[in-house]
Amino acid sequence: MKIEDLPVPEPVKRVIINTGITELYPPQEDAIRAGALDGKNFILASPTASGKTLIAELCALKHILEKDGRVLYLTPLRALANEKFEEFKKYTIIKKKNGRWVSVGISTGDYDAADPWLARYDIIITTNEKTDSLLRHRARWMNEISLVIADEVHLLNNADRGPTLEVVLARLMQINPHAQFLALSATVKNAEEAAEWLKAESITTDWRPVTLREGVLLHDTIQFKDGGTENIKKPAKKPVLNLALHTIQLGGQALVFTGTRRNAVSLAKEMSKVLIPFISKSLSRALMRIVEKILTTGERTRISELLSELIKHGTAFHHAGLSGSQRRIIEEAFREGKIKVLTATPTLAFGVNLPARIVIINNYRRYESGYGYYPIPVLEYKQMAGRAGRPRYDTIGEALLIANTEDERDYLMESYVLADPERIWSKLAVERILRSHVLATIASDFAHTEQGIYDFFGKTFYAFQYDSHAIKGVITKTLKFLYKEKMIDVSSENVFATKFGRRTSELYIDPVSAVLIRDALLNRAPRLTNLSFLHMVAHTPDMFPKLRPYSREISNLAIFVDGHREEFMFEVVDEWSDRISYEAFLGEAKLAWVLSTWMEEISEDEVIARFRVQPGDLYRLIGTSRWLLYASQELATLFGHKDITSHLAKITERVKRGVKEELLPLVKLEGIGRVRARILYNADLRTLNDLKKVPFDKLIKLPFIGSKIAKEIKEQVGGYIKSKDWKNLKKGKDWEQQVITKY
Ligand SMILES: Nc1ncnc2c1ncn2[C@@H]1O[C@H](COP(=O)(O)OP(=O)(O)OP(=O)(O)O)[C@@H](O)[C@H]1O
Ligand SMILES: [Mg+2]
Repeated sequence: MKIEDLPVPEPVKRVIINTGITELYPPQEDAIRAGALDGKNFILASPTASGKTLIAELCALKHILEKDGRVLYLTPLRALANEKFEEFKKYTIIKKKNGRWVSVGISTGDYDAADPWLARYDIIITTNEKTDSLLRHRARWMNEISLVIADEVHLLNNADRGPTLEVVLARLMQINPHAQFLALSATVKNAEEAAEWLKAESITTDWRPVTLREGVLLHDTIQFKDGGTENIKKPAKKPVLNLALHTIQLGGQALVFTGTRRNAVSLAKEMSKVLIPFISKSLSRALMRIVEKILTTGERTRISELLSELIKHGTAFHHAGLSGSQRRIIEEAFREGKIKVLTATPTLAFGVNLPARIVIINNYRRYESGYGYYPIPVLEYKQMAGRAGRPRYDTIGEALLIANTEDERDYLMESYVLADPERIWSKLAVERILRSHVLATIASDFAHTEQGIYDFFGKTFYAFQYDSHAIKGVITKTLKFLYKEKMIDVSSENVFATKFGRRTSELYIDPVSAVLIRDALLNRAPRLTNLSFLHMVAHTPDMFPKLRPYSREISNLAIFVDGHREEFMFEVVDEWSDRISYEAFLGEAKLAWVLSTWMEEISEDEVIARFRVQPGDLYRLIGTSRWLLYASQELATLFGHKDITSHLAKITERVKRGVKEELLPLVKLEGIGRVRARILYNADLRTLNDLKKVPFDKLIKLPFIGSKIAKEIKEQVGGYIKSKDWKNLKKGKDWEQQVITKY
């Protein structure tokens, strides 16, 4: 079926054809023929890169241009939301019937807001969690949504993210019973079941734009699923290295999935040694430019230096310990074909679009503390394997597992290559997860009676898959907890949220966290310091990622905890009576210690060296702590603790920026992070007024400042730039004429 012949408005076809797509892929055609454009609910389950987004785009534009509708697009990750936002932007050159342009909005941040400004947009792109928080704030425009697109819905199966997605979909079905639901999923075994729950039809295919050859490598022999075999050369010691080299020799790139971060790093190091003969002079120059980017983005650390060494040799690793900007640079370099071998942890497997000629699954076992090693699900294997083969470049993609023995080869063939992906199962009925959703159901008026609450949860995927009795017990228990902690109250038949309950729900924190914070703010530590508050938030179940003490640092942490005993809001666990809780307490203390070190302007590199906390983790810790500190501040206000709100506000700001108090006014400026702020401060530029008065040429000469940043500073503080300086500046840069004189 040609794009030209689709029953959608002409301008939509023009935009699509302009991107180079002229014909539908077979699964897309199936979806259209089955009525996706006629308003029916659908679940499309098809492999990675089979073009599910285009169906979503067609449906969305149909709603906006022909039905005066409005679209909500749900993704599980911020990075994906950004990617979709970019993809949808191409339609903003189309005019609607009312003469306005099609508009696309995105909102993924701040969970304590109703974002009324989103009402302006035709297409709103968000994450599942953000949608949950918007629903809690009863964002009015939610009721006007006519099409809900849920991307990656196989995540219903995920213990951490699935429940929120499920509750969000159930709520949206409740408030918009007439809206169309379009769910996009990887291939799963029970797509029909999920479809039935969504009152949708399901389309499942295995079609891929590039043929996928799956198999297992043992020593130097690949055995393919189709029975064929192939031998590879053995220039290096390890089969995985040989396989990657084999691919590069054929002009491709390799993506290698490893089980742990450490494996990803060590494998990339080994790779760098054998790649040398494959790096041409021109590639080497291109790689040096990437190295330059890595070293000048963010603070320089032992990790950025290691990455640079590897990139010089055409390889890199990718895992959650890297900062977001490092990851983006690496992804781009791989997409451009400059990095030849990328080793990655499985976080890369879903979400970002990063295909490779060959995908190598080096470890099919995963380690989880408490569990030990376990083999990954087939669904996860398929997601990784699906990254093989770049549309438009490759006619074939290969996905290979690595076996060490014949037995293992047969096992891998049987259990992964030839296996079907599992069924997906709802993970909702867990108390820790339900608490928050039960409270939100009451606090945001989705139910007013106990029966109403059971009815709502009776409409979830969980109740559909198991039965509603199974979940009832957990809900009853949760209601008792919420009542005891005065988050909800009852009058005759009615259940309603107290101010505390309502605020907790809006703040998007676990009710248990709210109770811990409430009690801590009331009882307080004997000596109240920054550490008291940092540890308080580290102690809540919302804190993520948790830090566990390494055995080498336990005695140090014990001394630290002992020395600060009076500052903790919660009693220090006794080392001898409960070892496990004691170590958890040490972990929380460590987290608080890391954050206070960060606030004292200790460099990222030193944080890595001292605590073995990598930048990616540090940024996540900062993000979560900021959120919990903000929530604490709000709860302090609610409970009338005026004496500590400004202390909390200051810590929140310092954690966010990683600075001592004296730098707070400076880091508020755009373009000024903690490094530049410290340079300004040490040059006696301590207030905005100092910056306003300082001569431009003096400002420019400071390290890391330079003309562009200096100009930005002056712009923001209302300072003056002499016309001579300005002219010199302009020679180098192409700035707009209009802003010249006012500085
Ligand atoms: N009919 C088509 N012809 C050519 N290219 C297409 C067509 N449809 C989609 N594509 C391209 O295929 C690529 C993958 O599409 P898309 O991102 O929608 O995959 P997906 O099915 O959502 O996969 P995933 O499960 O990985 O999210 C995109 O670059 C898209 O532009
Ligand atoms: Mg997709």
